[in-house]
Amino acid sequence: MSDVSHIAVIGAGTMGSGIALTSALGGKQCTLIDVQQSQLETARAYHDKQLSKLVAKEKLSAEDATNAQSLLSYTTEMGDASDADWAIEAATENVEVKKTLFQLMRDTFNDEVVLATNTSSISISDLATAVEGAEDRVIGMHFFNPVPVMKLVEVIKGVKTSEATTNATIALSEALGKIPVPANDFAGFVSNRVLMPMINEAFHAWEDGVADPEAIDSIMKLGCAFPMGPLRLADYIGLDVCRDIMMVMYNGLNENPKYLPNQKLVDLVEAGKLGDKSGEGVYNYTKE
Ligand code: CAA
Repeated sequence: MSDVSHIAVIGAGTMGSGIALTSALGGKQCTLIDVQQSQLETARAYHDKQLSKLVAKEKLSAEDATNAQSLLSYTTEMGDASDADWAIEAATENVEVKKTLFQLMRDTFNDEVVLATNTSSISISDLATAVEGAEDRVIGMHFFNPVPVMKLVEVIKGVKTSEATTNATIALSEALGKIPVPANDFAGFVSNRVLMPMINEAFHAWEDGVADPEAIDSIMKLGCAFPMGPLRLADYIGLDVCRDIMMVMYNGLNENPKYLPNQKLVDLVEAGKLGDKSGEGVYNYTKE
């Protein structure tokens, strides 16, 4: 578990592609896996663009950028990464999807490989039940968007996660330039237990007419020193992701109504307005 050299990242969405770029910049070979070829192409374009930007800003030499590019590969077949010595699942926030992927990961990678998940809210112990015999290697390794910029990795042990797995996760997070911080295995962990109700409350404030979205965001940026206001951040995270995390917390924390997603948030998701990724959410990003 000690010398990680090849990381398999499963899921090439925003988080998976960010984790892959961070891994390559940290000198690790990284195979990004997704069932959709188009998603892999989007990830590759994001990597090329970010590396060029770093070179243009003189934060990375052209040689190091080429080296990072050569460490990255993209495939629709998990088997192509069967020699990986670390796996991070970063697929959609759905328990059944993740459990199916975990079984495939256990069957693909060798018996020493840590099976980490970037889940933002789902119970690690519950996910581990999908891989009987390998529960000690399952751990939460929760990165933040944009992954290359945000320092935190929230590390969550399941009931059967071994000490060796935890220590190796802390070591790898640090090797990638991140700061690992532990949290216990409650729905939403710490980050989303605190962040999502605040975002949800901003929707309630908008719905109640306390202020319009621009004013809500300005107040929180200027008055509380947030880099983005809560509604802008909700668009950035994805409104569907925010709704899903609220529902995981509602179901996982005794159906406490304080975790029910705001109706305006739900309506936007149902209208396909998911935020930045769909071009419109609380704000419209297609306007000039
Ligand atoms: N990938 C890589 N680098 C990126 C990036 C991306 N997607 N987006 C921005 N950056 C880099 C920029 O290149 C820039 O780098 P330099 O300082 O080297 O020039 C730096 O970040 C700052 O970017 P910008 O100047 O373009 O813009 P900014 O100063 O407004 O910062 C931001 C952008 C970093 C996103 C900032 O607005 C921010 O910190 N926002 C809050 C983000 C946040 O809260 N994330 C957590 C979300 S919750 C989550 O992820 C977990 C979950 O479970 C839901």
